[in-house]
Amino acid sequence: MLNKARAEKYAVGAFNCNNMEIVQAIIQAADEERAPVIVQASQGAIKYAGIEYIVAMTRTAASKASVPVALHLDHGTSFEQIMQCIRAGFSSVMFDGSKLPVEENISVTKQVLAASRPAGISVEAELGKIGGTEDDITVDERDAMFTDPREARDFVDNTGVGSLAVAIGTAHGAYKGKPELDFERLSEISSLLDIPIVLHGSSGVPDEDIKEAVSRGICKVNIDTNIRQAFTRKCRQVLEEKPEEIDPRKVLGPAREAAVEIIREKIRVFGSSGKA
Ligand code: 13P
Repeated sequence: MLNKARAEKYAVGAFNCNNMEIVQAIIQAADEERAPVIVQASQGAIKYAGIEYIVAMTRTAASKASVPVALHLDHGTSFEQIMQCIRAGFSSVMFDGSKLPVEENISVTKQVLAASRPAGISVEAELGKIGGTEDDITVDERDAMFTDPREARDFVDNTGVGSLAVAIGTAHGAYKGKPELDFERLSEISSLLDIPIVLHGSSGVPDEDIKEAVSRGICKVNIDTNIRQAFTRKCRQVLEEKPEEIDPRKVLGPAREAAVEIIREKIRVFGSSGKA
């Protein structure tokens, strides 16, 4: 999926799911846009819904769609959990060793690859630190967290990983100010790597910046916060308008529709509409 995106210069949307309605929304949006799509589950989603539910819901929703659907583990933290996800039916996994010393990140990424490859599972790794949204961080601290292009090249050569998440100025969660992406750095990383590059923390990044990042080599764009915001905002609106409403379907149904809308918009920005 990502190699095709790389060759054709668009990005596949990787959308975080947390419940049935969001899984349905992701796959419905992709189906309507005729776009390949990645449903992904974070540590929080696994804790909330459980690996088996996530697999079963995604499989059921995907079976009703006619676009390629991948199920991806987002920010896997341990070898054991990654194996659990693969056994349960995930089609790709991320091992996030970005908080480890580089040598250890390389070593565990290699172990994950050795165990995943025979099962046909693709692996994403992370180099550099994609932070939360701290506003009080200095420019020097910011630069120190960013992915070093040469180190990225060595990391990929050493591990043989399938895709790499890079830190170029985005952060997970809602931004307080405007995110400043380091496009030059991204171009340099792109020119040195021959694998798909992944952008995390993409909610709240202006559409024009996302398009610029895709044109410079980003092939997978992760979106979580914007879906949660659209979903919860709609729940709140329905309950404010009808405080006596007791039917969860009357609250969650419109929220699911709001999620479909935002996901369709993102897919169009990423350029993956019509690429299925
Ligand atoms: P956002 O919550 O900023 O969209 O980030 C999602 C993400 O990168 C998941 O890995």
